[in-house]
Amino acid sequence: MNFKIAVLPGDGIGQEVTEEALKVFEVVAEEFGHTLDTEFGLVGGAALDAEGVPISDSAMEMCNRADAILFGAVGLPKYDTAPMEKRPELALFRLRKGFELYANLRPVKNLPALQNASNLKPEVLAGVDLVVVRELTGGLYFGKPAERYTDAEGRKAVDTLPYSEQEISRIVRTAFELARQRNGKKRVTSVDKANVLHTSRLWREVATEVGQEYPDIALEHLLVDATAMNLIRKPAAFDVIVTENMFGDILTDEASMLAGSMGLLASASLGTRHNEYGGQYGMYEPIHGTAPDITGQGIANPLAAIGCVAMLLRSTFGLEKEASTIEEAIEQALNDGLRTPDLYQPGTTKLNTIQMGDAVAERVRTKVTR
Ligand code: IPM
Ligand code: MN
Repeated sequence: MNFKIAVLPGDGIGQEVTEEALKVFEVVAEEFGHTLDTEFGLVGGAALDAEGVPISDSAMEMCNRADAILFGAVGLPKYDTAPMEKRPELALFRLRKGFELYANLRPVKNLPALQNASNLKPEVLAGVDLVVVRELTGGLYFGKPAERYTDAEGRKAVDTLPYSEQEISRIVRTAFELARQRNGKKRVTSVDKANVLHTSRLWREVATEVGQEYPDIALEHLLVDATAMNLIRKPAAFDVIVTENMFGDILTDEASMLAGSMGLLASASLGTRHNEYGGQYGMYEPIHGTAPDITGQGIANPLAAIGCVAMLLRSTFGLEKEASTIEEAIEQALNDGLRTPDLYQPGTTKLNTIQMGDAVAERVRTKVTR
């Protein structure tokens, strides 16, 4: 196969980790007899600096011609106080909305090698293997009105949280399909705030209706505050969690601590567009941000970005073997005691970003040729 990939490294450590992801991508392609055809574009602060917009029309067009987008991270402190249309994050929203990438899949696993890396007790973490399905093109991120204004009483601001039954049913369906495919607990937890929000009551109603089409999957409804607690209290009980945009954003940062580090979690954003390989057009990005505090030091953890390549091969190209080879190589590197500083503990070997990329690439190679 020929992989036509639009690469948007973005800002901060996005650059550093994407390079390692591409390194591993090249090796997988080579080992399995595929070709990797990349095109690079500017996004976020990098695009604002060079072109005055968070993502240009030509970068959007480049993404449109590709099979998938490999995304690094966006956001720079110097744009923190800029108006919304001059903020790096706007690029993400344009990509998500523009390509209708409404389903954001964020898998969280606790690998045995990292059971001591989390602040949580190993016995709480044992068996954690869940996916958060975050709705990505609705809710507070896109609802109108969204503005700041001043009236006689003073400064005011408003954001709006809208959802339609179509938006809810398609994302809930994604969650049920995933629960069916996964070798998991066959359980969907739909997360809302139905004791307060109208949208949540609609969400719960629609989720229940969709659930009736999936008698083989257990559906539970859980309030978002209780979910936040249970993610720490008994995380191994979860299988697939489905929730609206902002709840999903917050809960996945929390859930990343079950894996051990933000630097480990990859995500896939999928939508309506399918391809001739029986897969889906998608954007793949680590859930971590640009980490300005460590940018340029070469110490960022590239494993989330590398994990994105595995998700890409699976969801866009249907290449399970290639995908699992990468995931096994990541796990092998961790089992071998290799750690970037975010996960370093005495008795393990500290590597920088490039060395970690090399270690995974090497393990992909030996796995295939062994
Ligand atoms: C994420 C990020 C983004 C989000 C930011 C950078 C706008 O936190 O992908 O989780 O809130 O969606
Ligand atoms: Mn986030």
